[in-house]
Amino acid sequence: MACFRWGGVDRRTADPTAFGNAVEPRQPPSPHSGCRVSTGRMPAGESPPLPPGETAPSSPGRLVCVTEVARTKAELATALASLEGTSALVMTMGALHGGHLALVRAAREAADNVVVSIFVNPLQFGPDEDYEAYPRDLAADLALLGTVGVEAVYAPEAAEVYPREPIVRIDPGPVAALLEGKTRPTHFAGVLQVVHKVLNLVRPDMAFFGQKDAQQLALVRTMVADLDMPVEIRAVPIERDVDGLALSSRNSYLSATQRIEALALSQALVLGKDAAAHGLPADGVREVALRYLAEAPGVRLDYLALVDPQTFQEIGPDEGAAPAVRLALLAVAAWVGPTRLIDNMEIELHG
Ligand code: PAF
Repeated sequence: MACFRWGGVDRRTADPTAFGNAVEPRQPPSPHSGCRVSTGRMPAGESPPLPPGETAPSSPGRLVCVTEVARTKAELATALASLEGTSALVMTMGALHGGHLALVRAAREAADNVVVSIFVNPLQFGPDEDYEAYPRDLAADLALLGTVGVEAVYAPEAAEVYPREPIVRIDPGPVAALLEGKTRPTHFAGVLQVVHKVLNLVRPDMAFFGQKDAQQLALVRTMVADLDMPVEIRAVPIERDVDGLALSSRNSYLSATQRIEALALSQALVLGKDAAAHGLPADGVREVALRYLAEAPGVRLDYLALVDPQTFQEIGPDEGAAPAVRLALLAVAAWVGPTRLIDNMEIELHG
């Protein structure tokens, strides 16, 4: 098993469109960091707070040694060279929560080794988005990973990933212009750029992505298929708090009131799903969910869409599924205060 040295937190202060610029000096580890050898669980009294919905592992699990982190491609290569057997990659931007842990657990069940990347990718943020504010706490992330166990962590700085502005770019194609792409036109190109790079570096047998970012998942699958990338992409269902809120790193931006207001997103999706189960056609489903969101206090809708889960094209107004059941994706994006949240639910349209 590889051990990885925690080397400090990357908190860039510079313009996200700039590449390879300086980073702040390295930070000392926090008292509850993963910067020590642990055996599956952190020592008593030092456990990181588990995300809502998470319970501590019932058994110590395998030896976890999250004392070192690969910060460079060379360190990553060294770490990977020591692994035997199959490997699964979980890519994250840090600020880990129960949704990420579900990805790691799924990866753990499927492969001998789990590699987690932690990198806030500047390329996938628009100029007015939250790149600077995005929560960064590597020590807390490592501590949380220590509760589930991983073999390698790759947490590069921006200058390592983008020593210069990339010249060759991934074109994500037309699906990237729909839904999320309407509000975030450069987002998926940036996502695929970094996913392609990290898949190339880690060369895992499989990689796990959350269903919460359904459009991202579909685009990653398309890239992997179109570019003949030798990796199996696996989807993991959305993790929700008990009240239905989809887990997201951006939930940490919400005030107590906003968090309650944010429940309208998942509630609207459930109402839409119920409407479909009662036989309403596509337009009826959309209307039910839209009406609910229109009346939800504190919520400013970006989009609500009922789409084909493969093409992300809107399903026509009267389209049911006669005679069979048709699978559709009801997707929503909305601002709650200044925070933009997304959520989605698979629904069955009945003819
Ligand atoms: O889903 C995310 O957190 C990011 O888009 C990803 C896949 C880690 C790429 O930066």
